[in-house]
Amino acid sequence: MSVYPATRLRRLRESAPLRDLVRETALSVDDLVMPLFVAPDALPNERLPGLSRLTVDGAVAECEELVRLGVGAVILFGIPEAKDDEGSGAWIDDGIVQRALRALRPRFPELLLLTDVCLCEYTSHGHCGVLDGRTIDNDASVELLARTAVSHVEAGADVVCPSDMMDGRVAAIRDALPRTPIVAYSAKYASAFYGPFRDAAGSAPSFGDRRSYQMDPGNVREALRECELDVAEGADVLMVKPALTYLDVLRAMRDRFDLPLAAYNVSGEYAMLKAAAAAGDLDERAAVLESLTAIRRAGADFVFTYWAKELAGWI
Ligand code: PBG
Repeated sequence: MSVYPATRLRRLRESAPLRDLVRETALSVDDLVMPLFVAPDALPNERLPGLSRLTVDGAVAECEELVRLGVGAVILFGIPEAKDDEGSGAWIDDGIVQRALRALRPRFPELLLLTDVCLCEYTSHGHCGVLDGRTIDNDASVELLARTAVSHVEAGADVVCPSDMMDGRVAAIRDALPRTPIVAYSAKYASAFYGPFRDAAGSAPSFGDRRSYQMDPGNVREALRECELDVAEGADVLMVKPALTYLDVLRAMRDRFDLPLAAYNVSGEYAMLKAAAAAGDLDERAAVLESLTAIRRAGADFVFTYWAKELAGWI
C-alpha cells in the first residue's frame, strides 16, 4: 500500500468540482417527502416554526408551490374537527384527510400523495389504537387501521404509511389493498423527539405513554425482527423513525434488507435545529444539509423531512 508522500487524500479535496465529482452521497429533492398537516383551521404550529396547519384550500395552495419548487411527494396528516374513542375521523368518508385527497388528487396528477395511517390524531385518548380498558386492543385496532388505509386509497392516496406499531397491521392493509405500496414505519421508537408534532396534532396520550407499542430505544435486533415481519406481511418500503438518533439502526437495516429504506427526520429534530439557528448557534442551511446527508449516507433511500420545501430551494 502506498503511503505518504505518494498518497495524499487532499488531492481530491482541492476544488469544488472535484469534490462534487467524487462525493459518495448527494442530496436530491427527488429523495424528500414533505409532511403536511391538514386541519379545519389554519392555525400556526407554535412548535414547528414555518409549518402552519393547512385547510383543504391551504393544502391545495401549498402543493402548487411545492410542485413549482420540484418537490414530488407529500405525506398528509389529519387533525380532525372532533375526536372520539374509536378515532372514527381517521376512516370516515368525509374525514379531513379524505377531503384533502379528493381536492389534491385531480389537481396534481404528478404529485405523489402518501398518507400517515394511524389513530392517535383522531382518538380522544390520543393512543394509536383503540382501548380495552387501559390497554391497547391490538387486533381491534388493526381492523380500524386497515379501514383507514382503504378509505385513503379510495379518496386518492398513492401510498399508505402505517405508523401505529400494532402487530399485524401491514398484513391487514396488504390483504385489503393488494396493489397499493405500503411504506411501513417498521422501526418506530418510543421517542422524546415527537413532542412538537404531538403539540401540533393535539395527539399526546391522555394517560400513560406509547411504550407498549413503540419500540424501546435500546433495541436494534428487535428492529430487524420488526422489519422481517413487515417484509413477510407485504411491506414495500421499511422505515426508521426518528432518524438522527437511530442512524445505526438504519445501517443495520441497509446491511440486511434489499427493500428501499426510508427515514423520518422528526419534529423534534426539526425544532432543535430551528431553535439553535434562531439563537445564532449554527448556520441552519449547512446544519440541515449535513443532517440530511448523514441520514442518506446511513442507508435511507428517501427521507420524510419538514425541510423538504426549504431544501428544494437550497439544492
Ligand atoms: C402518528 C405519528 C407521529 C409522528 C408521525 N406519525 C406521532 C407519534 O407517534 O406520537 C411523529 C412525527 C414527528 O414527530 O415529526 N402516530
